[in-house]
Amino acid sequence: MVERIEQIEREAAEQIAAASGSAELEELRVTHLGRKAELTGILRGIAELPADQRGPVGKRGNEARQRLEALISERAAELDSAELESRLASDAVDVTLPGAPAPPVGHPHLISRTRRRIEDIMVGLGYRVLEGPEVELDYYNFTALNHPPGHPARMSQDTFYVAPGSLTQAAMSAARAAADGGGEGGAATPDEELVVLRTHTSPMQVRAMEAQEPPIFVVVPGKVYRRDSDATHSPMFNQVEGLAVAEDITLADLQGTLLEMLRGIFGEGREARMRPHFFPFTEPSVEFDVSCFACDGSGSLADGSRCGLCKGVGWIEVGGAGMVDPNVFGFVADGGYDPDRVQGFAFGMGVERIAMLRYGVPDLRRFLDNDVRMLEQFS
Ligand code: PHE
Repeated sequence: MVERIEQIEREAAEQIAAASGSAELEELRVTHLGRKAELTGILRGIAELPADQRGPVGKRGNEARQRLEALISERAAELDSAELESRLASDAVDVTLPGAPAPPVGHPHLISRTRRRIEDIMVGLGYRVLEGPEVELDYYNFTALNHPPGHPARMSQDTFYVAPGSLTQAAMSAARAAADGGGEGGAATPDEELVVLRTHTSPMQVRAMEAQEPPIFVVVPGKVYRRDSDATHSPMFNQVEGLAVAEDITLADLQGTLLEMLRGIFGEGREARMRPHFFPFTEPSVEFDVSCFACDGSGSLADGSRCGLCKGVGWIEVGGAGMVDPNVFGFVADGGYDPDRVQGFAFGMGVERIAMLRYGVPDLRRFLDNDVRMLEQFS
């Protein structure tokens, strides 16, 4: 019997040492030490043994039981730590790996892309990009641009006036401070009529000249507002203003700059032309056109029919421009600029109009509908 106990102990010890997982070890514990195990049976049956065997069998059986229990718990500890280790290794996250790139969820709106394209071209010519306030003083929007109070041109732009009571205290004092700093002809205190939604980006001409000394080469993209709404007009739209002020700036510089810009926007082969026009704040004033890119300026298509884009004219109107009026220099704060020393040109154009021409969009309101079927065509 003692021999049998020793055999069980040996075999069990070998199996325990070879156990490869805690589940297997648990099975071995049940097999060798559980209620139905052979060793358990032997110990339970001691009372039935002949008297001379009870002592040695009981002693050896209990020793074997204790030894196996000790081996199992030792092996269990080994397996636990090995299993923890491998779990740690397989669960490890490499925090130094770069994150997965976010799936693309959208793209800039066609108007933003057009605006950026124009900015890029002008930055390439050495211009700086500036922005200005959309809620603007009448002073910068009109007065400093040579529209005296009551001037009929003020009426032609269908201005939105802002009730001063609707402005925050901070906005109002900022407006007051700006107007107080304004030039000679400037109304000094904003009252009822003096705050507007800017009707064009041109108010940034005088603001830019007040903010820095010449030479000045800036472009000012931004939103403007007019009471106007149809297929080619929206109450809110975008313009880009250009301003160059330095010594010896001439109309020829304006022509060259417009040509360069229009070729960047509409393609290398384009031509630019200027036609006489009137703006209160430029003298002389022009409107500028680009040669039609649908008919290459000829006015008729390959099949001899009249070009629909330029209506057979060969030219497409793009914007307004001119040489900065000396009176405008006079409105720059702190004594103004001396028109005998510096000259300048300015131009302005609508971003929506350029995008419509360039991409054949028939109705300006489509830019504002936010219909993804429309927007996705320009990704
Ligand atoms: N601000 C003018 C407009 O909106 C355009 C313009 C800009 C004309 C600069 C001349 C010089 O119509």
